[in-house]
Amino acid sequence: MPEIFVTTREGATSSLTVKAGVSLMEALRDGGHDELLALCGGCCSCATCHVYIAPEFLGKLPAMSEDENELLDSTSHRTENSRLSCQVKVTDALNGLKTIIAPED
Ligand code: FES
Repeated sequence: MPEIFVTTREGATSSLTVKAGVSLMEALRDGGHDELLALCGGCCSCATCHVYIAPEFLGKLPAMSEDENELLDSTSHRTENSRLSCQVKVTDALNGLKTIIAPED
């Protein structure tokens, strides 16, 4: 099972062991990271699941949809490492992924 490393908004880093196949948003919520509001439940319509992905893993993620891209444009803290965690499925290829929960808008 992939292990991912999560840094909170307060700067604390911890690891989570995740079942492959779930979304990164679900993994973070199930791991107790309630600061990730994920208000739309993963429907790609709220952007409250915004995270930053370590650069070395960006190329291993599924391509960004137009909807995800537009939603990220509506956030105040978008960077080139931004993704909506509900749109990222955790796979074995993402073992060791480092992610940071983005600031709240
Ligand atoms: S949970 Fe709403 S866009 Fe990801």
